[in-house]
Amino acid sequence: MVNKFLLSLIVFVFLSPVWGANILGLFSTFSPSHLLVHMSIMKSLADQGHNVTIVTNCKTKLAPHDNITLILAPASEERMKGVNKFVENSMQRKPHFIQAIFSTLTLIYSILGIQYDFVLHPQVKDIYENPHVKYDLLVLGYLFNDFQLGIAAKLQVPAILSWVGLPLAFVDDTVGNVYDPSYVPIVSFVTETTKQSTGLWWRMHNLFSWIMLKIFSVGNDFVMTFLYKHAFGNDSSMISYDEAKEKVSLLFYNYHSQSEGPVRPTVPQSIEIGGIQIKEQPDSLPQELAYFLDNATDGAIFFSLGTNIKLTFFEPQLLETIYQVLSHQQLRVIWKWDDQVPKPGNASNIYFHNWLPQDDILAHPNTKLFITHAGKGGVAEAQYHGVPMLALPVFADQPGNAQLMMASGFGISMDLLTLNKESLEKGIQEVLNNPVYRNNVRKFSDLYRDRPLTARQSVIYWTEYVMRHKGAYHLRSPIVKLGFLARYNLDVYAILLLIFACSMIIFVFLLRFLVNTILLKRQSKAKIN
Ligand SMILES: *[C@@H]1O[C@H](CO)[C@@H](O)[C@H](O)[C@H]1NC(C)=O
Ligand SMILES: *[C@@H]1O[C@H](CO)[C@@H](O)[C@H](O)[C@H]1NC(C)=O
Ligand SMILES: *[C@@H]1O[C@H](CO)[C@@H](O)[C@H](O)[C@H]1NC(C)=O
Ligand SMILES: *[C@@H]1O[C@H](CO)[C@@H](O)[C@H](O)[C@H]1NC(C)=O
Ligand SMILES: *[C@@H]1O[C@H](CO)[C@@H](O)[C@H](O)[C@H]1NC(C)=O
Repeated sequence: MVNKFLLSLIVFVFLSPVWGANILGLFSTFSPSHLLVHMSIMKSLADQGHNVTIVTNCKTKLAPHDNITLILAPASEERMKGVNKFVENSMQRKPHFIQAIFSTLTLIYSILGIQYDFVLHPQVKDIYENPHVKYDLLVLGYLFNDFQLGIAAKLQVPAILSWVGLPLAFVDDTVGNVYDPSYVPIVSFVTETTKQSTGLWWRMHNLFSWIMLKIFSVGNDFVMTFLYKHAFGNDSSMISYDEAKEKVSLLFYNYHSQSEGPVRPTVPQSIEIGGIQIKEQPDSLPQELAYFLDNATDGAIFFSLGTNIKLTFFEPQLLETIYQVLSHQQLRVIWKWDDQVPKPGNASNIYFHNWLPQDDILAHPNTKLFITHAGKGGVAEAQYHGVPMLALPVFADQPGNAQLMMASGFGISMDLLTLNKESLEKGIQEVLNNPVYRNNVRKFSDLYRDRPLTARQSVIYWTEYVMRHKGAYHLRSPIVKLGFLARYNLDVYAILLLIFACSMIIFVFLLRFLVNTILLKRQSKAKIN
């Protein structure tokens, strides 16, 4: 009786929520879209009441939060030069394949340097050399920085990796996700091929890409070991790099395979948190905008080309064309407008503003169409809220995003530079009046949101799970410890092949022997006769 009571008490204590844990987030990335994903994870944990400390090397847009301490450990200007050069290059038109590889390699080199400097930055070093608080967990933004797991080793805490999208092959390797190249499309960071097929040519191409990534992965591991030794090698009490890698308890990745595909096997340590950066409940709109949108009885078009594309880039003629078409719509139009530029007109159906809560506008039931530059964030939000799109991509990843969006049947894409009044009007009418786009994107939205735990709930549940059990090492797939031969059973196949070959040889000898003896007997019989 008493035992039972004690047992239930223990179980209760064991499973009780973790309150006010100290969680450290390290994000040495310069990419705002990567940072947004990592920050959304950390904010969910801070909202839950945990004491969150975040170190970044770029300024973040995160609003001040009671439970978040932000520390900045910026990269040196010299390092940033390499990164900026890459961004500049990718702003131009689509580079040649070889060029893409070359500039990707220079980018990786700069990233590695930034990651290494970050670990040795006084602000970061202070955290692991003289910790002022007892940390319970490390969340590490993942991109060519496995060696930073040494910090988890120094602090003696489990680590969770945060990855921003569909896992690439070397991300899968951290937890042992099985990547079968015969049907799982390989995603690489040079050319994104996510279309699924099983044709012969496709599989050959896929296998080849997979082998390239595997080779890259081996090289990456080599570099990581080197950086680990350099960063932590002076401390003789440190565990080895291979042991530090075992600190990984979970991999969070910003993807939802049930709706986004492809269907593929994953291990228990890989947790999908697709859409973590999207607000689950829209905030109420500013009053002026709320009136404008609530009263849009015919619906509304939301027109935004993001923050990086300045209206001053455009020929005045192009703006005039867009204005002419939008001002003649029955629907109301919300137009993201740079205040410093004079407006093209005062049409009563258009609301101009330079600051617009994109997510909340897309969540409004009256929003019928999103005209967008096809940035990743905007497209994801429109997909989440089921709003069909007309894409006007300009540079960087925008054309690719627009293509993928169009291939999924969520809208159409047009070239901004060759736009005229007729083509724009036709495009708008097509997306508004052909129900196929709306139906597709609504169907996707329904699938995307239908889950046992929302992205935020998943983050909180699984993070607390790791802390409750002091690491989720028991979830670890045995595959991560297997060598190449064992992983693909090559040794077993080799032995089987050998046994088969030996038995064939024995069989042939036996056969020969039998045939010879029978024949010899016959011959000798024949002789006697
Ligand atoms: C901060 O954490 C406390 C508990 O430690 C919690 O009560 C509070 O709601 C959190 N603050 C915010 C803004 O979420
Ligand atoms: C929260 O973390 C910060 C370090 O980032 C620390 O200074 C502070 O004391 C912690 N608060 C609590 C209540 O542990
Ligand atoms: C390790 O020690 C060597 C020699 O004392 C020193 O030059 C180097 O900077 C140290 N490395 C780190 C990462 O502290
Ligand atoms: C617009 O709608 C709001 C409700 O959101 C209502 O209070 C307001 O009177 C309406 N205004 C106009 C000008 O239609
Ligand atoms: C719009 O209205 C404002 C005043 O309400 C006026 O100053 C401006 O010239 C008008 N713009 C156009 C293009 O008509």
